[in-house]
Amino acid sequence: MGLSFVLQFIRFKMGRSVSQIYQLLIVLQFICYSTEVEYEFLMEDGTFYNECKDLPGALSMEDFLDMTNLNRTLVEEGIQVSGNMTSVWYGVDYSDRIQMTGSVQYFDRGTWVPTILNMLVSDLCKVLYDDKQLWYKSWSSHIVNRREIEKECLMPGTVFIFETYTANFRFGSGIYLKPGRYSIRLQYKAFDKFNIMRPNDICYEIRGEFFKI
Ligand SMILES: *[C@@H]1O[C@H](CO)[C@@H](O)[C@H](O)[C@H]1NC(C)=O
Ligand SMILES: *[C@@H]1O[C@H](CO)[C@@H](O)[C@H](O)[C@H]1NC(C)=O
Repeated sequence: MGLSFVLQFIRFKMGRSVSQIYQLLIVLQFICYSTEVEYEFLMEDGTFYNECKDLPGALSMEDFLDMTNLNRTLVEEGIQVSGNMTSVWYGVDYSDRIQMTGSVQYFDRGTWVPTILNMLVSDLCKVLYDDKQLWYKSWSSHIVNRREIEKECLMPGTVFIFETYTANFRFGSGIYLKPGRYSIRLQYKAFDKFNIMRPNDICYEIRGEFFKI
């Protein structure tokens, strides 16, 4: 499964710029060794989504997804999810390319330091419901109105309706993750048809710890 994802990724990347090939190599490094140890990410209590304090211009979760109708309850096996959420990401257009980056930081003696865990998805709308993606099992596979909203991607007004399910954040890693606090930063940027980034980029962070299963 990992390999076919990689091949697909390469095919997609062919003909693109060299810098993107380098980014691909970082992703490859992460995926090729990704079945050795299984980890689970446990969120810290309190706020789910933290602002990116070093990026004051970036919008936060409130300007991205409205979760007022989303019910999340902490249960022993993870987080029980039900209800719906709505995109409030105003200012993006159907013809935009949505890029997502994920990066993991480690809390070391009072400061957040980068790790080698990084991910770049240059065209998120193409793979939002792809069953080979990290977020499929814990997120997009539980959207019951997928057929109706698939084409909308993350356009403002899109309502994602979830079945009741328990999300846990388990994944395999060949990279040893030392114990301690981690912060997963997710950024979403929209590029118009001239490949100019729109000013409404989103950034939020999820804090927690990785536990070996
Ligand atoms: C979203 O959830 C709210 C609150 O439970 C409900 O009233 C509303 O009908 C739901 N919307 C859709 C489209 O299911
Ligand atoms: C949220 O989920 C919990 C656990 O299943 C349930 O007890 C509670 O009634 C739900 N709340 C709403 C508003 O649906």
